[in-house]
Amino acid sequence: MQRTKIAGIGMYVPKNIYTNNDMKQFMDTTDEWIQERTGIQERRFADRTQETTTTMAIEASKIAIERARITPQDIDFIVFATLSPDYYFPGCGVLLQRAMKMGEIGALDIRNQCSGFVYGLSVADQFIKTGMYKNILLVGSEKHSFGLDFSTRGRNVSVIFGDGAGAVVLQPTQDENQGILSTHLHSDGNDAELLAMFNPGTHANYWKEGLASFDEAKIGEMFLSKSMIDGSQNYPTMDGPSVFKKAIVKFPEVIMEALEANGYKTRDINMLIPHQANLRIAQFVQQKLGLSDNQVHNNIQKYGNTTAASVPIALCEAWELGKIKQGDLVCLAAFGSGFTWASALIKW
Ligand code: ACO
Repeated sequence: MQRTKIAGIGMYVPKNIYTNNDMKQFMDTTDEWIQERTGIQERRFADRTQETTTTMAIEASKIAIERARITPQDIDFIVFATLSPDYYFPGCGVLLQRAMKMGEIGALDIRNQCSGFVYGLSVADQFIKTGMYKNILLVGSEKHSFGLDFSTRGRNVSVIFGDGAGAVVLQPTQDENQGILSTHLHSDGNDAELLAMFNPGTHANYWKEGLASFDEAKIGEMFLSKSMIDGSQNYPTMDGPSVFKKAIVKFPEVIMEALEANGYKTRDINMLIPHQANLRIAQFVQQKLGLSDNQVHNNIQKYGNTTAASVPIALCEAWELGKIKQGDLVCLAAFGSGFTWASALIKW
């Protein structure tokens, strides 16, 4: 059976840099606190009105498409992963299709947060392997800066996230020594509320009390009420220590699953690209698996956590730096809200 190869890769980050010290204009925080807990030194924030999740995806896609030596009109399917879409609906996939003047091709939007890109890679891989599509554009993009609580109350979450996009073009290959070897997807909804944004939503406190305040519970005011906004319930929330504990178990587990499925050992990995959740998590995983510094690429220091965009941005940067070469064994791994986690093993 044919395999799926990454034929082109691109990334885009906004030019506005916000250092940890810049974050002090919004909240009570320090460079020391942020660096010590997360490893982050600075992040990028999109232009308020001139950039969206989709426009950043377009910039990354243009590069990926050019590097694959095709045109946007050659793309026959779009997979778009984000948790910060331009519109609540429709998804960003169709906005990208429209802006890039692609044909009336399918556009699939993926809602798997930090694991979104690896989930999307798995979906695209199945379509390519079965011969259904020949040029799939897979994008991860986030404009977090629009949806975070920049007051001191939200500082444990808002200092972590940044904006950006990464994209790949996926094509079939007959070369047995190249391409995606396997993908591994998991979820556990028991902890769905530990890292989440509840409102606006249709939950009406059904799953858990107190997630939303309603104005007199009129049906039209339950989706996004004034009380929710007044109570800052329209922002993401995170139980940081619980996320940390789960992440450091599931990252190594899903990486080992990928290696074992293909008969490899940790020493065979040329490059691990972990989702850039937090440098402390990535360092813990590296240590647990006994990987050397040149087997792992981290860039959260510069970009913060860009959720669905973090894996393709780190992958693109590692490749551009010459850290990934043809024939290398590359492992992608992600963990995030849901919880969902996933890995992919690729022969570059
Ligand atoms: N600046 C200064 N002080 C802060 C900040 C900040 N930005 N944020 C929180 N604090 C304070 C709190 O108010 C609290 O003070 P107190 O002890 O006086 O009450 C203290 O620091 C500890 O607060 P916690 O929220 O308990 O912070 P914690 O030590 O858990 O660190 C962190 C937060 C870095 C998020 C940590 O929990 C962690 O590493 N979690 C892992 C999860 C993670 O990184 N998620 C990333 C996104 S999710 C993903 O991608 C999978």
